Amino acid sequence: MSDTYLSLVAICVFFLIFLKLIVRPHPVKIPIKSRHVFITGGSKGIGLELARQAAAEGARVTILARNLKILEEAKNYIRVSTGIDVNIVSADVCDFEAVKEAVESAGPIDVLICNHGIFASQEVDNHDIKDIKGIIDVNLIGTFNLVKAALPAMKNRSDRKPVSIVFMSSQAGQVGIYGYTAYSASKFGLRGLAEALQQEVIAHDIHVSLIFPPDTDTPGLAEELKRRIPITSIIAASSGAMQVDEVAKKALNGIKCGSFFVCCNFEGLMLRIATAGVSPQRSYLMAFVEVICAGVIRVVALCYLRSWYNSIEKWHANKKNV
Ligand SMILES: NC(=O)c1ccc[n+]([C@@H]2O[C@H](COP(=O)([O-])OP(=O)(O)OC[C@H]3O[C@@H](n4cnc5c(N)ncnc54)[C@H](OP(=O)(O)O)[C@@H]3O)[C@@H](O)[C@H]2O)c1
Repeated sequence: MSDTYLSLVAICVFFLIFLKLIVRPHPVKIPIKSRHVFITGGSKGIGLELARQAAAEGARVTILARNLKILEEAKNYIRVSTGIDVNIVSADVCDFEAVKEAVESAGPIDVLICNHGIFASQEVDNHDIKDIKGIIDVNLIGTFNLVKAALPAMKNRSDRKPVSIVFMSSQAGQVGIYGYTAYSASKFGLRGLAEALQQEVIAHDIHVSLIFPPDTDTPGLAEELKRRIPITSIIAASSGAMQVDEVAKKALNGIKCGSFFVCCNFEGLMLRIATAGVSPQRSYLMAFVEVICAGVIRVVALCYLRSWYNSIEKWHANKKNV
């Protein structure tokens, strides 16, 4: 082994030790077996699959959505597939009093998963302001309602095990996507909420996770695809699409490991490194990857941006010619 090679290894080892000493918050494990996992938007799509997998792992699960009939169907589906009964509650996340009542009736929560969400692709000048407010209200204010309703009991829990608050963002919450002005704004907002909240609740052993799925095969996406602007699909396709069970599995594993950022595929990992910023990082190994890869990933990101802007130019040129 040459001296240069040995020096390089020594530098890496010292750097890893340094990162192990400085990363914050400290690593944590969030057990879910026999614990109360409360999932909003749990009647369909990603939320339903999260509920099924959490129930199969022995968690006591409550799902919340508005439509009681679909909640009943979801409960039935989970019973048939796992043999376990979940608790259902109907409420609109935009209604704080209803959310408070639902949370109180469900009992103390160990893992709060704010998964509910609506999406619509529309350029801002064609997007009705009422619909823009609707997206912000459900995706962002609805999440504040949940946190405000659940936090007091989570802080005052008698069981002192670590607990978790989880926000379902999107890759459109890591990078702005054409047509997702309102949706991206609501999901970027969740990041600000998550980063600040993590600092506020760390003293209570409460740990925040932020999940970033790509396009995922759900009833919500199927509806959205009927109306989605073609250029939105072209850009979103850069990160591929995933099945709902894969996304739920990655999300649940990330929550149990207490990861702050939870990405679901390789492109998500690249985005996570590219957008690490000043976000909390528990893993010194991941911090090492972030530092080493930052420059290269920025170059990759610039290549993606070039391709997206080229597609946008072509798309507008074609529209003019039609
Ligand atoms: N699917 C994707 O491609 C994708 C990609 C990235 C991120 N995400 C995010 O993942 C989450 C779940 O998406 P999904 O595709 O699984 O959605 P989905 O299939 O449309 O299901 C949405 C769930 O949220 C509930 N919900 C909607 N508005 C609500 C409200 N005001 N109050 C209470 N519950 C409400 C729905 O039930 P009710 O209508 O009965 O209330 C349903 O249970 C969302 O936050 C979404 O932004 C999805």
